Amino acid sequence: MAAEQNAQSLDSAFYQSADTFFSGQAGTALTYDDLTLATLYSEILPRNASLDTELADGLTLHIPMVSADMDTVTESRMAIGMALNGGLGLIHYNMADKQQLKEVSRVKNHIHGLIQEPITVAPDQSVGEVLERIDAKSYSFSTFPVVGDDQKLVGLLSGNVIKPRYASKKITDALVPRDQVQTIQEKELGADPITIADQFFTEHPGINKLLVVDAEDRLRGLFTLSDIERITLEKQAQFRPARDDQFRLLCGAAVSTPRTPDGTLDRERIETHVGGLVERGADVVAVSTAHGHTKGVGEAVELIRNAYPDLHITAGNVTTAEGVEFLADKGANIIKIGQGPGSICTTRLVAGVGIPQMTALYVASRVAEAKGVSLLADGGITKSGDIVKALTLANGVICGGLLAGCPEAPGKVMEISGKLYKQYRGMGSLEAMKAGSAARYGHAAKDAGRKVAAEGIEALKEVSDNLDHLLAQLIGGIQAGMGYLGAPSLPELRKQARYIRVSPAGQREAAPHDVIEMKASQ
Ligand code: XMP
Repeated sequence: MAAEQNAQSLDSAFYQSADTFFSGQAGTALTYDDLTLATLYSEILPRNASLDTELADGLTLHIPMVSADMDTVTESRMAIGMALNGGLGLIHYNMADKQQLKEVSRVKNHIHGLIQEPITVAPDQSVGEVLERIDAKSYSFSTFPVVGDDQKLVGLLSGNVIKPRYASKKITDALVPRDQVQTIQEKELGADPITIADQFFTEHPGINKLLVVDAEDRLRGLFTLSDIERITLEKQAQFRPARDDQFRLLCGAAVSTPRTPDGTLDRERIETHVGGLVERGADVVAVSTAHGHTKGVGEAVELIRNAYPDLHITAGNVTTAEGVEFLADKGANIIKIGQGPGSICTTRLVAGVGIPQMTALYVASRVAEAKGVSLLADGGITKSGDIVKALTLANGVICGGLLAGCPEAPGKVMEISGKLYKQYRGMGSLEAMKAGSAARYGHAAKDAGRKVAAEGIEALKEVSDNLDHLLAQLIGGIQAGMGYLGAPSLPELRKQARYIRVSPAGQREAAPHDVIEMKASQ
């Protein structure tokens, strides 16, 4: 018994709870690599650790990950991928307000497995023209719904007739006519379209396309058997998509704090645009700025809170307890923590401000708990171990650079010396500010090209694996961390974490060393 007590007190002298550890380090700012987590007695198999996180009342994610509201990270495709994996995407605001509304609609209306805008052909085209189009666009499929000018379904052009020998035939003479095409009414899809489509294919052996039409017989979508089979397999995956109460994918959108020519907050534009986002079904808006503890951001949050009392509001960025308190008092539910840690950020170099993440998160977390708001650790995350550390103090993480190389991120792939890259730029880089994000850094749009000091760089990311695979790797890492700490859930992880500083030699020891690496871990 005495030996046990001794072991326990030895451990607690070295491996300290958040309050003891961070208070003991007051005066020094620490980030992820400056500390490590001690292992604890565990009965948890990593794969059984739950990653559910409640960001606000009625806003629960199944993985604690959010893609950054940056113009080289999150548009509808990334947001759909994040939500399908249980997370959330924040659509950036470097686009016209109208365009952002459309992007949100794309996510909210997305039905997994349903091709909502199938490529169609017209009855008076020839099979030869279709062959040319397939070649020019490198389509990997060759069956096309045939629709008239009024979008009404005329038939289906099957891959069996897309052959050079039929090139001169008119589509109208080669199609499967409307009355022989299998269709389903849009309104019959209900809350679980995948199950309906799955049942249909089981009941109709040999049929591998199901077209969706509206009451006027206009084409509204297309299911294919191969997609449905893949999705049914994926359904057994551990992490469910993040959905709202109408079974739509969750989606967030960033809003800026524009000003009128006289320098005051453009209240009308903010209120109108947020109204549009709410109408489209956005689940959360993020008032995203580099300095959230300001009069302007406070006013914007207050304005949105008063106009939309039930809307979830994320606001930031801050790194102080007073900053968290200020935004919470103005009505934000979720606070973004991070000033200058981002992989493309130069705020600390340019302005000499900003706090390394773990210290900022600790300070923020103590007030967040008292104020009943949640925290997102924003920026500086380069590996799953950083996420585990962040989650000992925050409710989720925001990733930019980690996701910017995915095919789901906006932007073209470019080849340089045989390697493939995608652009990744800070929202405070000159080019991004010219495209719209100047207000985020406290500048007027007209000044973005000159006069202002950029606080971000333009960079490249090597093209990475697709989002599903990348997230699977990261999730595996987070669950491994929870297994080591014996934490079955994220609230338990926050309670149980024990920290210790790491020396520079300890940091070197943490990465592969004294070997010739043949294959980098993914
Ligand atoms: P990571 O490390 O994930 O960081 O690439 C993404 C986060 O960085 C912030 N951000 C910036 N910060 N200058 C800054 O100081 C910038 O130009 C900039 N652009 C983005 C933002 O919080 C993002 O989520």
